[in-house]
Amino acid sequence: MNDLIAQIEHARSIIAARISVEPQIALILGSGLSELADDIDNPTIVPYAEIPGFPSTTVAGHRGDLVIGRLAGQPVAVMRGRFHFYEGHSMQQVTFPVRVLHALGCTTLLATNAAGGLHADWRVGDLMLITDHIFLPGLAGHHPLRGPNDERLGPRFPAIVGAYDRELLALIRASANDLGIPLREGVYLMLSGPAFESSAELRMCRLLGADAVGMSTVPEVVVARHMGMRCAGLSLITNLALPDGPPANHQEVLDAGAAARPKVAALIRSFLSRIGRVATTPTSPDRP
Ligand code: HPA
Repeated sequence: MNDLIAQIEHARSIIAARISVEPQIALILGSGLSELADDIDNPTIVPYAEIPGFPSTTVAGHRGDLVIGRLAGQPVAVMRGRFHFYEGHSMQQVTFPVRVLHALGCTTLLATNAAGGLHADWRVGDLMLITDHIFLPGLAGHHPLRGPNDERLGPRFPAIVGAYDRELLALIRASANDLGIPLREGVYLMLSGPAFESSAELRMCRLLGADAVGMSTVPEVVVARHMGMRCAGLSLITNLALPDGPPANHQEVLDAGAAARPKVAALIRSFLSRIGRVATTPTSPDRP
């Protein structure tokens, strides 16, 4: 990208001209979860197609707009639909929106996704708090920070240890506990997709220490951490991804998202209502 900062500023200014609330918390809603944005008070809706530098979404079940307003009293910017590497976008394009949300004032990112559960005793509809990740495409060279680094955005070699913020995780646990929502925890492994995994690949994922597998989230978290944003992630287990189980399919992913929506919405609202002070304190880019 030529002059990334100028592109971020261009996109930021187009959005900023339309909004009256400065968002502090960025939410990315994954497959089947987009309708959570319908709960936002006085929303300003900006279609991605009207934001310079944003690619357009192509996946059924993913909408494409940015919704800015208040949710549970907090100023939020919600990505209704995200960009995936498997759509053909570069890792830089996939993560460009996070750069723009940061420029708009967001200091916290909560990313949600649909994921395949790698444990036989997990159930469709379970929620998993992401405690760490494995970035397979990134390790293989498809990394959003590859290429020249602009120190104004973040350091050349950002730390990813502790990327999922301890305080935010504690708030989500407390919210789940209050609401009586069982919460699993574990490592999210991102692979590029779009094909679902082979049996041997699923065995590999388990051997690597993953608890859930999916095709998103990690690039956005890495770039958010590059800029010092606080991050948290939630996976909705939409299917079990077991070496000897039935193959996954996209429709079950969407159906599970729809069924779990009220639970996820309640959890996110509760989390937001607790967040206040934490959200306004960005961390240094390489602080665990
Ligand atoms: N594999 C990869 N990505 C996914 C899955 C899966 O089983 N379920 C939802 N996203």
